[in-house]
Parts: sequence; structure tokens; C-alpha cells
Amino acid sequence: MQRIATEQDFEWIAAIQGECALPLWKPNSTSWVLGREAFAIWQMVGDECELLSVAVEQAKRGKGLAKRLMEYCQKKIAGQGVKSFFLEVRENNIAAISLYRKIGYKKIAERKGYYANGENAIIMKLVL
Ligand SMILES: CC(C)(COP(=O)(O)OP(=O)(O)OC[C@H]1O[C@@H](n2cnc3c(N)ncnc32)[C@H](O)[C@@H]1OP(=O)(O)O)[C@@H](O)C(=O)NCCC(=O)NCCS
Repeated sequence: MQRIATEQDFEWIAAIQGECALPLWKPNSTSWVLGREAFAIWQMVGDECELLSVAVEQAKRGKGLAKRLMEYCQKKIAGQGVKSFFLEVRENNIAAISLYRKIGYKKIAERKGYYANGENAIIMKLVL
């Protein structure tokens, strides 16, 4: 069941972010969780929305949770008048890029050597 993230979720979300070596984004009013297994943290910028972080507990991956949660969030956010969604992803993160493509995101740009290890960042966009 999807719901808005609360302070009680901060600890397990931070633990998953740590395990995945993701930046430690703190959930905000535009963050949702699915059980205690998946979270998505977004940032609204005018009539656009950026995905800051999405992750699923390792043992629960490959069951459609991220897809379900992201589509749910996007529908909720679109209800607030937002039509464009953006995200940035490491070019070697095949699972994440496949997920984003599956739900309709398209690559719009690339940032060469964006990450500390020299990896490129792929910028993707979805217009609902
Ligand atoms: C990326 C991540 C969120 C995907 O979560 P998930 O719940 O396993 O994804 P889903 O089961 O919803 O998969 C949806 C689609 O994504 C693609 N996908 C997911 N995992 C994949 C993998 N390991 N390899 C290839 N494609 C994959 C598939 O197209 C899948 O659709 P299908 O099952 O119908 O083929 C998860 O792997 C994760 O938490 N990774 C670590 C954190 C991370 O890298 N986050 C993104 C950067 S912020």
C-alpha cells in the first residue's frame, strides 16, 4: 500500500540509501513509500518534478514494486498540475535505466564524467 513518507520512515529509507551507496536524500512532502520495502523521493520545481531517489530493498527487487510506486507517485504529482518529470541516472545503472524506459522516460541529455568516479550521467524526461 502506497502512502506519504513520515518521520518514522526516515531510518529505514536512510539504511537502504546507505546499502545502495545512494546520496542520503531526506524524504519530504513529495515522498512516498510502498510498505517498508520501497521509497521514491521527488522534488517539485514549478510545473516540473525531479526524481531525487528511488530504491527497493534488495530482497524485494524484480517484483514490480518500483514500477508500481513510481507510477502511483507520478499520478499523484500530475494531479497537482505537473506534467514533466526529470531524473538523472548513472549510465551503468542498467536496472534503473530499464525501469525508467519501461514507464516511458526518454533520454534527453548526457553529462560526461558527472560522477566522482568519472561515470556519465544520463538525463531522462517523461511528459505525461
Ligand atoms: C532500480 C530499482 C529501483 C528497480 O526496482 P524493482 O522493484 O526491482 O523494479 P521493478 O521490479 O519494478 O522493475 C520494473 C522494470 O524495470 C526493469 N528492471 C528492473 N530490474 C532490472 C534488472 N536488474 N535488469 C534489467 N531490467 C530491470 C524491467 O524492465 C522491469 O520490468 P519487467 O519486470 O516487466 O521486465 C532497484 O533495482 C534498486 O533499488 N536499485 C538500487 C537503487 C538504485 O539504483 N536506484 C536508482 C538510482 S536513484
